Amino acid sequence: MLTSGLSPELIKDIFAAVYLVATLFFILGLKGLSSPKTALKGNTYAMLGMLIAVVTTLFYPTVKSYYWILAGLILGGTIGTVIALRIQMTAMPQLVAALHSFVGLSAVFVAIGTYFSHKQAGELNSTLMVELAAGSFIGAITFTGSVIAFGKLQELLSSNPLIFKGQHYLNLLLGLVMFGFGAHFAMTDSFVSFMVMTGIALLLGFTLVLPIGGADMPVVVSMLNSYSGWAACATGFTLKNNLLITTGALVGSSGAILSYIMCKAMNRSIISVILGGFGGETAAASTAVGGKTVKSAAVEDAAFMLENSKKCIIVPGYGMAVAQAQHVIKELMLVLQEKEIEVKFAIHPVAGRMPGHMNVLLAESDIPYDCVFEMDEINSEFSNTDVVLIVGANDVVNPAAKTDKSSPLYGMPILDCYKARQVYVIKRSMRAGYAGVDNALFYYDNCALVFGDAKAVTEGMIKALKEG
Ligand code: TAP
Repeated sequence: MLTSGLSPELIKDIFAAVYLVATLFFILGLKGLSSPKTALKGNTYAMLGMLIAVVTTLFYPTVKSYYWILAGLILGGTIGTVIALRIQMTAMPQLVAALHSFVGLSAVFVAIGTYFSHKQAGELNSTLMVELAAGSFIGAITFTGSVIAFGKLQELLSSNPLIFKGQHYLNLLLGLVMFGFGAHFAMTDSFVSFMVMTGIALLLGFTLVLPIGGADMPVVVSMLNSYSGWAACATGFTLKNNLLITTGALVGSSGAILSYIMCKAMNRSIISVILGGFGGETAAASTAVGGKTVKSAAVEDAAFMLENSKKCIIVPGYGMAVAQAQHVIKELMLVLQEKEIEVKFAIHPVAGRMPGHMNVLLAESDIPYDCVFEMDEINSEFSNTDVVLIVGANDVVNPAAKTDKSSPLYGMPILDCYKARQVYVIKRSMRAGYAGVDNALFYYDNCALVFGDAKAVTEGMIKALKEG
């Protein structure tokens, strides 16, 4: 109604032009997010794009009243702000999974609503019904798949893969029956077929994600991100909204590319992850450490070795995030550098609980980017390093990934910390990491564990270094 007085063609052209500008901002946002150095700028571009998109959509001629929109904006905005202010960095992946589930569910609701409004107006046609079917089944799979991913990441469900005999045949059968009902719906506009298809898709979301184990969960979250994009894209076709189509496609394809990159980094097959662990490793957890015992070291011993080293690599992991130890780690780096010890940071692509988790934390404490190295850049340096200090990392440094075929981690590239002259691992107990397996590194002769909270132990090391 804000556009009354303008010709429909002109309105269409104006919207197309402004939506194009918003899309350009989203593309610039994605480009910026590809490196920690430009991530902040990228986020600002993406926010600008979203602002343009939302404000422009409010001017859409089909908007009849602003009351519901305003109510939604206030309610959603308040809930979003409260969650964003309270969420711990360590709980970010489950939040992302929960948000994906909402995208999926809304795609299902939009499809059902559009079905009824168009049926009433006598405007149902087969193209629209194919779009409705696509939006609904992708949305339904995204919804239940994300709920399971949330449950696993929040540890409400076991992170172990739930595997049973014949499950791939069951998934195949469910997929075929789902497409059968979808095709029947597109040909006959039968609401029953539409609902049965959606019900089977909801079930498929469960059966595809339940068999995937904790170690592969990062890829699943990224894959669900991609699905939520395609669900939004299909909804864009249904609502005839070009911006939703392009944004959905951008999210869908960037999520798929990220999943592929992560699969490569973890030496996993992307097909295996998409098809619910098909062809993936199903081995039980390894305990093959040959009855050896671990050595524990005092904080002062580790500090002494650090002080007498020339080169040290710090490997942060999920435990650093839990302990919020990034600021004291920066202080440790400065103390070591003052003593002319070379300090580098090594980051594994899936360290922590979300892509870039460690980069974000190190950037938060202003650790210079030129001290931070990705796995491929630094792996060749461990063999000429005096001391490696592992701060709350476990799975990403487990040599069983290279040597033990029965380990669920087998095949995942790791940071080659075990090659260093001396390795210290800061952790609180002998508990396993996310994948739930014992760490062969802890039993190596050149490795010792410094038990305690990462922040407290690091503070102790700084104190010992300053006093020493
Ligand atoms: P993990 O293997 O999860 O190990 C973390 C270690 O930190 C644990 O062994 C824990 O031992 C220790 N820890 C926890 N709180 C601590 C504290 N306050 N102080 C000191 N230590 C503490 O971590 P990782 O090596 O970073 O590997 C990441 C794992 O998560 C991989 O298996 C990966 O596949 C999975 N994952 C990754 C992502 C992404 S995208 N990054 C997403 C989901 C899952 P204690 O309890 O004994 O202290």
